[in-house]
Amino acid sequence: MSEKLKIKGGMTLKGEVSISGAKNAVLKLMAAAILAKGESKIYNVPELTDVQIMLNVLEELGVKTVYDKVNKTVSINAENIADITAKYELVSKMRASFIVLGALVSRCKEAIVALPGGCAIGERRVDFHIRGLEALGAKIKIENGYVHAKANKLKGADIYLDIPSVGATENLMLAAILADGATRIQNAAQEPEIVDLANFLNAMGADVSGAGTSEIIINGVKQEDLHPIEYATIPDRIEAGTYMAGIIATRGKGIIKNVMPSHLTFYNSKLIKMGAKIKLLEPTVIEVSCKQRLSAVNIVTQPYPGFPTDLQSLAMAMLTTADGVSIITESLYENRFMQVPELRRMGADIHQERNHALVRGVKKLTGANLKASDLRAGASLIIAALMAEGESIIESIHHIDRGYENFEEKFRNLGAQIIRFNDNDNISETLTQKGSYNEASI
Ligand code: EPU
Repeated sequence: MSEKLKIKGGMTLKGEVSISGAKNAVLKLMAAAILAKGESKIYNVPELTDVQIMLNVLEELGVKTVYDKVNKTVSINAENIADITAKYELVSKMRASFIVLGALVSRCKEAIVALPGGCAIGERRVDFHIRGLEALGAKIKIENGYVHAKANKLKGADIYLDIPSVGATENLMLAAILADGATRIQNAAQEPEIVDLANFLNAMGADVSGAGTSEIIINGVKQEDLHPIEYATIPDRIEAGTYMAGIIATRGKGIIKNVMPSHLTFYNSKLIKMGAKIKLLEPTVIEVSCKQRLSAVNIVTQPYPGFPTDLQSLAMAMLTTADGVSIITESLYENRFMQVPELRRMGADIHQERNHALVRGVKKLTGANLKASDLRAGASLIIAALMAEGESIIESIHHIDRGYENFEEKFRNLGAQIIRFNDNDNISETLTQKGSYNEASI
């Protein structure tokens, strides 16, 4: 049943929100866990559709998994790996599952993993992953939509990535862990999620250095050097950036807990330029506020530590009502302005030309019927709907469930009037049960 959101805009967000574990880190840790024999435990795992898909991928490999949703802990027992195939049915649902390729070739010397294909936001090729594996000595065949990689013994190599791809860096790190000798990944991605993966692997007995810089060195170790571990993943910087956007866009004031401010340096500096105030209360707690209309800023998305592409749509939503003209340039993906037509339907004045968007701030947005096309475009529509006058309905919210744990409740705790329903629901009843939305307004 397709679920929708109903949001009444115009509320000022106030209060506290605690950030969950990072989706884009935890998915890779789950794949990395299969490198060691025995049971590893990962803490701080958010309850997301994408986490469930990765559990299914691992289960199909014969790995035993348990997700304790109360304690947000995933146990992964990779004592035995019975299968080396990640099927299209799962990989096509979530491209991040392609990460098992590196881990499987490392551990099992062979892997058959479906090619993910493009997705709504861009072509998203995996050629760097493949070329890097070949450089490590894997024989690769692409047949019937699958990558078949085989390597009796991978050998350390120097690999230069044309662009600092997050997924390629991670896949190649995993592949190199048990290789003979040293692997050097140059022009590596520097995202905090890469550092988290390196910390996880090192805790497991691997030898990875340089993560967080553009050159990562992996000295191969032996299978018997690796042991299962217990590890807590980092907080989700994109989730944190999303709630910050909601508070700032509604001229509110709120406290964000369990956040790593250093992971959001570039984003924060842009928010401050827009007119927001960000105060560090404790090392992992910040206070965000904004009293006045935001000012226009220009944004260019870049690999970390630049402005994150995953927060571009959120920034755009905020800038739709800013004072002045903002130019947003998306430099990572070909098609990551999917929110633009929806924002226009709310009264935003956005002119898009290829990967540039010119956003002329309008006085206000008005509520509308909207459709989420992908995860971050969906999140930006929530922010826009919170800012808007009147009510909005957002369809296709399964995209948002892929990356935001418990988001309606988190927004509601900040004072947002937001409710999930499906077409068969008696909305008034649902809203009254949730007790958060003025029935008279439906
Ligand atoms: N690219 C290639 N060839 C490759 C690999 C990448 O051309 O072999 C291109 C892609 O087409 C893309 C660019 O390089 O245009 C960057 O892609 P990258 O590999 O860095 O991205 P990813 O690993 O597929 C991760 C996140 C994305 C996030 C990007 C960039 C996960 C599961 N996904 O994707 O997150 O946008 O890094 O930071 O970690 C999201 O959470 O909404 C999301 C899309």
